[in-house]
Formats: sequence, C-alpha cells, structure tokens
Amino acid sequence: MGYSKKFSYIAKDFSFDPAGYVVVTFYMEAKDDFERCAEAVAAESSVGTWTDTEGLDEELFQKYAARVFDVEKNDDKSGVIKVAYPLALFEKDNIPQLLADVAGNVFGMRELKNLRVRDVELPESFVKENKGPAFGIPGIREVFKVYDRPLLGTIIKPKVGLSTSEHVRIAYEAWVGGVDIVKDDENLSDQDFNPFYERITQTLDARRKAERITGQKKLYCPNISARMSEMYARAKFVKEMGGRAVMIDIVTTGFAGMQFVRDQQMNLILHGHRAMHGAFTHSDRHGIAMLVFAKLARLAGIDQLHTGTVVGKMEGTEEEVTKIDSFLRDDWYGIRPTMPIASGGLHPGHLPRLFEILGKDVIINLGGGIHGHPDGVGAGAKAARQALDAVLAGRTLTEDAKKHEELAKAIKKWGVFSIQEGSESEQSTYIHALVKGSPLSVAKV
Ligand code: 3PG
Ligand code: 3PG
Ligand code: MG
Repeated sequence: MGYSKKFSYIAKDFSFDPAGYVVVTFYMEAKDDFERCAEAVAAESSVGTWTDTEGLDEELFQKYAARVFDVEKNDDKSGVIKVAYPLALFEKDNIPQLLADVAGNVFGMRELKNLRVRDVELPESFVKENKGPAFGIPGIREVFKVYDRPLLGTIIKPKVGLSTSEHVRIAYEAWVGGVDIVKDDENLSDQDFNPFYERITQTLDARRKAERITGQKKLYCPNISARMSEMYARAKFVKEMGGRAVMIDIVTTGFAGMQFVRDQQMNLILHGHRAMHGAFTHSDRHGIAMLVFAKLARLAGIDQLHTGTVVGKMEGTEEEVTKIDSFLRDDWYGIRPTMPIASGGLHPGHLPRLFEILGKDVIINLGGGIHGHPDGVGAGAKAARQALDAVLAGRTLTEDAKKHEELAKAIKKWGVFSIQEGSESEQSTYIHALVKGSPLSVAKV
C-alpha cells in the first residue's frame, strides 16, 4: 500500500512537458519500504500528508501532485528517484519557498534513512523570473580590465583578531605584491578589535593607494553578513565609500539574505562565501549537493562563489568541482555566469595543477599560502603572482624560482603539487609534499 489510499505518486509512465515542471533528483535510502518512501517524498513535498485529506480530490491531485517518474534502485532499500513538480506549485522568485517544497519536511521523515537532493532542474520560465548576477564573469572582468587569466585573491589572515591598522597594512601589501582581490574572512564582521565602518574606510583608502602605485584595478570584498537591516546599512556604506564589492556568508544568511542584498540594486559585486555548507553537502548519501546550492546562489545573484579547490584543504572531488564550475560558467537561459572561486588551503605550488583543472575563468584565493610566506605578506603575494605568471607563460615553477627569490622560498616551504604522469587517479591517494631536491615530485600515500 502506498502513502495515500486514493492516489499513487509513483507514475513511471508519466509524460510531461519539461517546460512546465521542476525536476528533482534524489538519492534515497529507506529504513524499510523503498516504494513507500518514494511515495512519501513526492506526497509530502507537494499535496500530500500522512493520511488522505478531504480536499485532496482527483482534480487537485492531477493538477498539483508531484510524480516519481523515474526509479533506479541500487538494492531493495536504496536508489535514485526523479520527481517532477508542476510549476504551479512555485512562486518562481522565492528560493526559500522552492526549498521548503523540494527540500523541506521530506528531510525529517522517520521512514527515511537518508535522502540527498542531487540536482534541481529549473525550466526557463522559472529561471527568468530571477535576477541572477548583476556583474557575473564579464562584469567582474570589466572592472579589472583583465580578460585572459584567473584572478588572484587573498583572505586577510589571521582571520580574526587583527587590529584595523594591521588589517589595512596587510591588505595594502598584498595588493601591491600582486593580488587582485582582498577579502575579509567569513567570521570577521564588526568586532571590537576591527570595527566594520573604520575598516571599510581605511581599507578602501589603501585600495586606492595600491591602485595608484600599481596602475592596476583592485577589489576589496568586505564581509557584510549580519541581520538584514544591518547588511543593508553595511552594503550602503561600502558603496558610499567607493567600494565595488561585498561578501556575504550565503549559507548562514540564507537565500532570503542573498535575494535581499541583490534586490537593493546597489551595483556591487556579490562575493558568496559558503561557510557551513559542509553541514549538508558533506555526505554523499544525505543532505543537499553543492551543485544545487550553486545553482540557487547564481539564481539569487551571486557574482562569485566558493565552489571547491580539488587540491586544497576543503573537500570536493575534481569531478564534482568541475561540474559545478561548468554549470556556473555555462549559459543558463540568459542569466549571467557566476565566477567560481577556489579557496582553502592553497599555496603557490598548487597553481599549475589548479590552472590545469579549473582553467582561466576562476578566482584563486590564497590565505595562509600568502600570509605564511617566510618573508611576510608582500613577499607571499609576489610569490603567488610569480607562480601564476609562470603557469600562464607555460613555464614550470622550478624554472621561475631560479629568478624569483619569493617564489623559491614559497616552494621551499610548501612544495609544488602535481600528479605523477600516468598515475592520475583518486586525489585522496596523493599528498602534496616537499620532496628535497625535486620540488615537482609528489609523495604517493
Ligand atoms: C508541518 O508543517 O509541520 C507539517 O506539514 C505537519 O503536517 P502533518 O500534521 O499533516 O504531518
Ligand atoms: C576562505 O575563506 O576561503 C579561507 O579562509 C581560505 O583560507 P586559507 O587559504 O588560509 O585556507
Ligand atoms: Mg575563510
């Protein structure tokens, strides 16, 4: 028996026009009965509940019920289901509502052991109701007038605890050393040791000075994450002070937060940091895939988004990260592409492999990999830029380290990451390591 006595939500022969439906792919593990769980997922996320109700008649069911139209079982209790949701169920520019539908109550249902939203496919009419990025990749490149290489960024470290004057000095040295973008870290906001409004005024002054000295455009992404009224005040202040970008912790402030900031049309680049995403992306059997989150962040208007590094400290396989990055860059019914950000545990020695995997339309952020340089931040920024220049010119880092002391010292400290020829398999079987006398080697573990 199904979830409803009157209707079945499993309809393998269900034929529908994709233009009129949202299609969600779930990986599902049932505690007991797989089919009953599939019914429950479609029911609970559309018109049903645990018992049949008076208002649920044939007409309402036909119009509004979600249908499980594809089932691929791994075994008796687990497999992948695809569910089609009629567009009429959605308020097309309300991402919180979309999630309350397709990723809402279903996650808490007792009979499910695990459930993971792997993908959400939205039709053109849905996507077009949303603003998407104001700048996107072309708009960001236009700010820098840099069109043919990855942008280089840094996160001020230590992430919290620095005074405003130290924060400003470090930002300035990083810009002058060669980075394009300086950003606050995800947990820096308006603390006593480095108050937001002072920080913005002084860091933007330092940005202008760095631009005069280098003749290059620079970007500062201050973290405005807070309750919405304060985010608004902070974004407005950044704009008034001549800022070009703000950073939002998109998971902790949520989709309403992102949509709110985007709706203000302040002409600011929105940098999306995804701190806390691991709470729902970490398991491959439960939660919500980062691909889904990235799609929705682009829909909400995030111009540049952390998506993973493949080789750094944050998890994410090459297959997963490149799939997300490709989605962000590709055409999506005309809304602007979001620039992926690789950030977390990176140092100059990662750049050859990163460029190979991620290409040119990416922001590469190095925090510790710049601020941990033996000769300090300025040298760290130079080393990062020297590594990028070497990669772009098709030279090895070892070759360029002969002419650049900063790069040589960075490589001496952290090594160069690469994958031995002919043995490119799982990333997790490699560690990046400094092998004496041969910085291009890796240790296989
Ligand atoms: C809720 O929003 O809490 C659920 O929809 C509960 O509904 P139920 O009582 O029909 O399960
Ligand atoms: C980030 O916010 O992306 C991280 O702070 C990166 O820092 P790291 O380069 O020092 O790991
Ligand atoms: Mg950080």
